[in-house]
Amino acid sequence: MYDIAKLIHLVAGIVWMGGMTFMLLALRPAAMALMEAQPRARLMGEVWRRFFAIVLIAIAALFFSGTHLYTAAFKASKLASGVGSVPLGWNLMLVLGITMMLVFGHIYFAGFRKFQRAVAAAEWPLAAKAAGQIHTLVLANFVLGWVAIAAVRLVR
Ligand code: HEM
Repeated sequence: MYDIAKLIHLVAGIVWMGGMTFMLLALRPAAMALMEAQPRARLMGEVWRRFFAIVLIAIAALFFSGTHLYTAAFKASKLASGVGSVPLGWNLMLVLGITMMLVFGHIYFAGFRKFQRAVAAAEWPLAAKAAGQIHTLVLANFVLGWVAIAAVRLVR
């Protein structure tokens, strides 16, 4: 069960981190360089709609698999030594992972909704502002994600 949970955890992490890598380092700079503001906003709206639905699924998978990995190891160490403990890096991953999920909640339920409403009403300055907020928060999650992964691998 531990191995299956870890596989699910890795797959979901790769999907989320890989999607952010593509969006931030390839799609967005290309769209900024080549497209006018309005078609770019429409494109990014459609990209985000699809990608954010995938992220919601990845988050559910990361949360349930991650808490399983964490509690299974905690219980095993308690059984073995009488005191339950996990490496500090795991606690960092727990805190950073949950922070990422809350940040994503803000992206999806605040920024993206605002963006969609602005595009539907053809209020382009508002749409650009909301897109800027989404970009900043995705960037924050991108950094947090790599820090969490480095922590779980490197911090004992
Ligand atoms: C509720 C939030 C989370 C919890 C409780 C959690 C928990 C854990 C635990 C306990 C491990 C270590 C498993 C082991 O070494 O056997 C782990 C590994 C990992 N986690 Fe998370 N995690 C969370 C969120 C995330 C997020 C948001 C990402 C990335 C988007 C992520 C990516 C990874 C990766 C790539 C590994 C594998 C590192 C390795 O090979 O040792 N996790 N996680």
